[in-house]
Amino acid sequence: MNNPEVVMIGLGYIGLPTAALIAEGKTKVLGVDINKNVVDTINKGEIHIIEPSLGESVAHAVSQGYLKASLTPSAANTYLVVVPTPFKDKNEPDISFVKAATKAIIPLLKKDDLYIIESTSPVGTTQKMMDFIYQERPELEGQLYIAYCPERVLPGNVMYELIHNDRVIGGVDEASTEKAVDFYSKYVKGNLHKTNARTAEMCKLVENSSRDVQIAFANELSLICDKADINVWELIELANKHPRVNILQPGSGVGGHCIAVDPYFLVSDYPMESKIIGTAREVNNYKSFWCAEKVQKEKLQFELEHGRKPKIALMGLAFKPDIDDLRESPAKYIVQKVLQNANNEEYYIVEPNIQEHNVFKLTDYQEAFDKGDIIVFLVAHKEFKKLPLNTKKVVLDFCGSFK
Ligand SMILES: NC(=O)c1ccc[n+]([C@@H]2O[C@H](COP(=O)([O-])OP(=O)(O)OC[C@H]3O[C@@H](n4cnc5c(N)ncnc54)[C@H](O)[C@@H]3O)[C@@H](O)[C@H]2O)c1
Repeated sequence: MNNPEVVMIGLGYIGLPTAALIAEGKTKVLGVDINKNVVDTINKGEIHIIEPSLGESVAHAVSQGYLKASLTPSAANTYLVVVPTPFKDKNEPDISFVKAATKAIIPLLKKDDLYIIESTSPVGTTQKMMDFIYQERPELEGQLYIAYCPERVLPGNVMYELIHNDRVIGGVDEASTEKAVDFYSKYVKGNLHKTNARTAEMCKLVENSSRDVQIAFANELSLICDKADINVWELIELANKHPRVNILQPGSGVGGHCIAVDPYFLVSDYPMESKIIGTAREVNNYKSFWCAEKVQKEKLQFELEHGRKPKIALMGLAFKPDIDDLRESPAKYIVQKVLQNANNEEYYIVEPNIQEHNVFKLTDYQEAFDKGDIIVFLVAHKEFKKLPLNTKKVVLDFCGSFK
């Protein structure tokens, strides 16, 4: 592509939809990814992830010549970094992908370029990348616009939310904030809220930690209710009739690339101050362990009652309903844990949103349900809601599929 206006580094669940959206606005976007398969797929006008209406958007943008993918960046006016920010051992944030992405574009930067990090990042990352850039290109010091703008879309509704969600935009100085706001105002209809880079970084971490803490409360209630022999779903529904109470739903844990990860960025940097946030992580992780233990108990109970090994259907691997994303998935963790304890039982592993898995042999959900003696609902996928409620099978519903 000649003279792209925007370079998008990282073409995953967030980078690709964002690149497609910008390109659909008739801005030339060069998408960069280190994964050749991703690059080749996009250049064919196809996509490598499941996200409603993304396929049409990418096909259109590629065929019109506004979106192209490449393994290497070329010079543009605006650079967006949307690469993974996982955590290392000991739950410390790993910003090496952000640094590698930044390093790749440093030789291309020129006066007045705009550099934006969208990857979820520990507080201070934008400043660190600015220092890195100016260390390598001291002649550009003070001549670039550098900002942070976190993404807060919901997988499964990304194409709508990219346009309609409010955005928080924080520059390393006011001019950078203004320049970044200008850029997003071309594509985003939600309100654009101005702040500084550190507050914008913290804002994303706090949003996800808030969700994690609230889910931990629901998960903790599910543990208490199990012991107290109370239906937690009914309890929460009733408690939420209070005008100022809004308890979330429990599940088999918390997963995904965001909520299960980002709170660690705060706990790692502010260990003494983030007690509730750290404990919420522990509660949500424990809930997955507890679910696996429940399956184990039910399995032994079945064997005692029937004098034979049960057939067990494990329903769902994704980290939440109706998506194909297995990152940090509690369901996947539970399946692994259950299989570690396997003792000649027959298992059917189900994930309707993926064709095949490199570790697990997948079974169709209806077949698994029909054959299983114990049905374990780990994710509330829409397909599972079609299954008969009045089954005589043993049902462990950790996610309210039948609620
Ligand atoms: N997925 C979400 O729902 C979501 C929501 C909000 C924020 N985020 C944040 O957005 C960021 C990206 O997340 P994602 O879900 O899109 O990740 P992803 O893993 O789906 O995609 C990241 C892409 O970046 C590529 N990549 C890695 N290093 C690279 C490099 N040096 N140069 C070029 N490409 C590189 C990978 O090959 C991959 O295709 C993360 O920080 C994440 O926390 C994600």
